[in-house]
Amino acid sequence: MADAPVNVLSICGSLRKNSFNAALQRTLPSLAPPGLSIKSAPAWADMPIYNADIQAAGFPAPVTAWADAIRAADGVIIVSPEYNWTIPGGLKNAIDWTSRMKDDPFKGRLVALQSCAGGLLGGSRMQYHLRQSLTAVESVIMIRPEVFVTFSAKKFDEKTLELTDQPTKDMVKVQLEAFEKFVRHHKG
Ligand SMILES: Cc1cc2nc3c(=O)[nH]c(=O)nc-3n(C[C@H](O)[C@H](O)[C@H](O)COP(=O)(O)O)c2cc1C
Repeated sequence: MADAPVNVLSICGSLRKNSFNAALQRTLPSLAPPGLSIKSAPAWADMPIYNADIQAAGFPAPVTAWADAIRAADGVIIVSPEYNWTIPGGLKNAIDWTSRMKDDPFKGRLVALQSCAGGLLGGSRMQYHLRQSLTAVESVIMIRPEVFVTFSAKKFDEKTLELTDQPTKDMVKVQLEAFEKFVRHHKG
């Protein structure tokens, strides 16, 4: 009998309508191997800025929905831009919120990272900072293969935002194949 598919949740660190990272996130299912099923996480745009006083009154609904979706997944792929050499504040805020839950959804969660950025480094500084924060919440991060989409405006169609760059598609495919194996290995 064939193995059951690995269920992965994708999270995008940009809220921008024409986001390249969101465009890459939308492309992932078409680049995934047959054993990997990828669906997008619920929106985190409405999460308030973390405040222990708000937490004391109960976790906000968008935080709970996000956490439930992460818990239900075998693994998580975070696709995010880099803001000022680090993690976009909104994404970090979302991770801060879930880290205060008794059952932190990121604890022990298998995670892969991808980034699209305008420049030469492709969001690498963001990824290394994100690894640090995810290590703090005890996620299990796949170190390699890495996916950095540099000069992203050149890799996507200007009008449709379709990913057109074949080497980028190949790089993402290689990571997704590796992530399926990584998740199966860790899940036994
Ligand atoms: C607040 C802000 C800070 C940025 N800082 C960086 C940066 O440090 N490094 C980088 O490569 N690009 C930086 N950029 C450019 C982003 O890489 C570029 O706008 C990218 O397209 C954003 O991702 P998105 O298209 O998914 O929204 C920054 C953009 C914004 C809005």
